[in-house]
Amino acid sequence: MAEPTIAQKTPIRIEVEQGKDYWWCSCGQSKRQPFCDGSHKGTAFEPVKWTADASGPKFFCGCKHTAGKPFCDGAHKAL
Ligand code: FES
Repeated sequence: MAEPTIAQKTPIRIEVEQGKDYWWCSCGQSKRQPFCDGSHKGTAFEPVKWTADASGPKFFCGCKHTAGKPFCDGAHKAL
């Protein structure tokens, strides 16, 4: 299994909108963190789709090592 690139070792706070789809970057190479910009093409990674069930702040994983994709679970503290 390929290792993702660590985009940053802190979560990324995003104000999400209820009902909207978000595509979280799992490879770490996107220039639009925490979301996919297509940079994963040619790698083993695919973006992770998440649909907001409510509007408000969410903390997306920036290190790409979370076990709770697409959100931060504190995994960056061990990197
Ligand atoms: Fe990282 Fe698409 S750019 S998953």
